Amino acid sequence: MGVTAHDQASQQRQAGDTVSILVTGGSGTLGSDVVPALRARGLSPLVMSRRPGGTATRVADLNTGVGLAPALDGVDTVVHLAAGKHQEREAASLVSAARASGVSHLVFISIVGIEEIPFPYYRAKLAAERVITASGLGVTVFRTVQFHSFAAGLFDAQGRLPVLFAPRLKIQPVDTRVVADELATLALGEPRGRVRDLGGPQILTGHQLARLYVDAGSAPRRIVDFRLAGKVWSGYRAGHHLVPATRSGGRTFAEYLAER
Ligand SMILES: NC(=O)c1ccc[n+]([C@@H]2O[C@H](COP(=O)([O-])OP(=O)(O)OC[C@H]3O[C@@H](n4cnc5c(N)ncnc54)[C@H](OP(=O)(O)O)[C@@H]3O)[C@@H](O)[C@H]2O)c1
Repeated sequence: MGVTAHDQASQQRQAGDTVSILVTGGSGTLGSDVVPALRARGLSPLVMSRRPGGTATRVADLNTGVGLAPALDGVDTVVHLAAGKHQEREAASLVSAARASGVSHLVFISIVGIEEIPFPYYRAKLAAERVITASGLGVTVFRTVQFHSFAAGLFDAQGRLPVLFAPRLKIQPVDTRVVADELATLALGEPRGRVRDLGGPQILTGHQLARLYVDAGSAPRRIVDFRLAGKVWSGYRAGHHLVPATRSGGRTFAEYLAER
């Protein structure tokens, strides 16, 4: 029986040799923490983007597939963070190119609660996750809750409104540095399938998050709580996006706001 790409990468890991890692979405919010986390482990990760320049060392588009084959040339492990408008198609083109180039491990970041909350972005994430899980490649799937940057974005998006609208929901935002560190560890290990979901250090109401946001220096504003109707909202209200049992370390939302 021949030696597979997975066997080769496994032998490399056991021998302590460097494996070649490519990060899709390496230019994004999470990617900007994952790339340094891999470098801190002595690796020189390749950073994939659709655009040359900046941090990109491999240029490819997962939606069209253009540039993917050369981008994956010589790569053992892919950390797939990129998410465009067509996540399922992007996952399918990545899987097909990864199979062709002998990638041995595909690590995928996913989101807690995507089965239960019928938000279109989550449906797309679930479809992409299923493509990856069924790929036949060695895979590791890691689901987390919302990032601090996402929670802050809910308020940033309100710009100069005279009041600050806060959802009547609980949110458990997590520090992308912690997520990145875990992804780097997973990327260096063997494929593990679905691993334990990760939540942030605190579960706070939308109102509490808004209060921290105002206290961190935005213009003083009255906080107005709101609720919406529908299955997406009910899914959040039921807490399907939370992981109360698994709380990470790392920065709290207040610490994140103070630092950014
Ligand atoms: N935000 C959250 O709260 C949260 C929570 C859990 C999981 N996640 C997941 O974590 C991942 C990273 O999130 P993020 O907030 O860091 O995202 P982000 O900042 O929006 O970055 C998205 C990345 O995807 C790349 N990308 C988009 N379309 C692409 C395409 N067609 N081909 C190649 N690359 C493409 C972009 O690269 P270029 O623009 O440079 O080409 C960019 O680097 C996503 O999969 C997201 O669903 C997010």
